[in-house]
Amino acid sequence: MQEYCVGPAEAIAEGGRLVVDCDGIEVGVFRLKGALVAWHNVCPHRQGPVCQGRIYARVIEPVAADGTTRLLAYAEDEPHLVCPWHGYEFDLETGRCQGRAAMRLRPARLREDGGVVYVSL
Ligand code: FES
Repeated sequence: MQEYCVGPAEAIAEGGRLVVDCDGIEVGVFRLKGALVAWHNVCPHRQGPVCQGRIYARVIEPVAADGTTRLLAYAEDEPHLVCPWHGYEFDLETGRCQGRAAMRLRPARLREDGGVVYVSL
């Protein structure tokens, strides 16, 4: 397993990301709720550059007591990553696809040492 230096941890702001090339393999490193997560930049649908997609809060549809729904809302504490190719949506913390439970992002091993971030592939 090869380890690659991503850069200083402080370079990735809360809610931000850094997509790095590790000898031809791209990895996206994201900061969520203070912690870092890393995913391979390959969408499990058709191999699109998922880590370069937009980040949105998960959309929810509250159901009233009478069973009706009238509006959409956002779960602000559940950031989702939307693949730029076909719009598949992934939970940024778990990598799980919102619409297809069996589909997940591939994680990359992450290590922080002395304020510097490394990924292992
Ligand atoms: S390649 Fe990502 S949604 Fe299709």
